[in-house]
Amino acid sequence: MQPLVALQHVSKIFTDKPGEDLSVLERINLEIMPGEFFILLGPSGSGKSTLLRIMSGLEKSYQGAVRWETGVSHADMSFVFQQFALLPWLTVFENAEMGLVMRKDLTVEQRKIIVAKELRELGLERFARSYPHELSGGMRQRVGIARAIATNPKVIFLDEPFSEVDSFTAKELRKNLLVIWQDRKMTVVMVTHLIEEAIELADRIAILTPRPGKIEKIIANPLPRPRNIRSQEAYRLEDEIYALVKP
Ligand SMILES: Nc1ncnc2c1ncn2[C@@H]1O[C@H](COP(=O)(O)OP(=O)(O)OP(=O)(O)O)[C@@H](O)[C@H]1O
Ligand SMILES: [Mg+2]
Repeated sequence: MQPLVALQHVSKIFTDKPGEDLSVLERINLEIMPGEFFILLGPSGSGKSTLLRIMSGLEKSYQGAVRWETGVSHADMSFVFQQFALLPWLTVFENAEMGLVMRKDLTVEQRKIIVAKELRELGLERFARSYPHELSGGMRQRVGIARAIATNPKVIFLDEPFSEVDSFTAKELRKNLLVIWQDRKMTVVMVTHLIEEAIELADRIAILTPRPGKIEKIIANPLPRPRNIRSQEAYRLEDEIYALVKP
C-alpha cells in the first residue's frame, strides 16, 4: 500500500529573531498510511504542533519534502485546534458550517442537512442556535470536531484536542472520535503528550525527542480494539513508551 503522506528529511528553523535561529525539527522521516490513526507524542516544545502545521500546509516554510498521495489536496484535510478556535459571533450551527460555506458544489439546503447530521452525531442538536460562550469546554470542542468532519475530509489533524477539557469529558470525546474514525475510514493525525491517550487511540505512535524534535522511535500499538487501557499489555506498552519519552 502507498503511504497517504510521506515526510522526507523535514526540518524547521525559526529565523524570526536575528542571530537567534531556533532549530525546532530535525530531519523528520515518516510515512502515514491511509486510514491510519497516527499519533505524535513528545514533550512540550519538541515541535509537535509545528510538524502538524507543516503536514497540513498551515506552515509553508520548512526544509525537506511532504509528499501526499496523488489526488489529495488541502480541501481533503481538516484541523481541530487545542484552543477550540470557534468564532464567538457565530452560532454553533454557523461555526460547524464554516468549512462548507465556500463549497460551490453544495446548495444551501444540502449544507444544512450535512451540518444538522454532524451536530446530531456529536449530541449538539439542541445547541445549534447557542453561541460558543454559552457552551462548556467539552461542547465547544465538539463543535470544533463537527466543523472538521462536516467537509468529509480524508485526513483530520488534531492538535491536543482534549487538553483543555476535564478528564471525564476527554474520555467521552475520545470515544466520539474513535466512532467517527471507524465509521468514516478517515486518516487521523493527532498530537498529544499523554501516553495513555496515545495507547487508547493510536495504531502507531511517533515519539519525538526534546527540541529540536527528532523521531526517537515509531511504535506500533498491537492492542486489539476496543481497547482496555487497564490491561497488562497496555501497562507494558505504557512502560515502554514512558522509557522513551524524555522530558
Ligand atoms: N511562529 C513561531 N515563531 C518562533 N518560534 C516558534 C513559533 N512557533 C513555535 N515556535 C517555537 O518552536 C518550538 C516548538 O513549538 P511547538 O509549538 O511546535 O511545540 P509543541 O511540541 O507543540 O509544544 P507543546 O506541547 O507545548 O504544544 C518552541 O520552542 C516554540 O517556541
Ligand atoms: Mg503544541
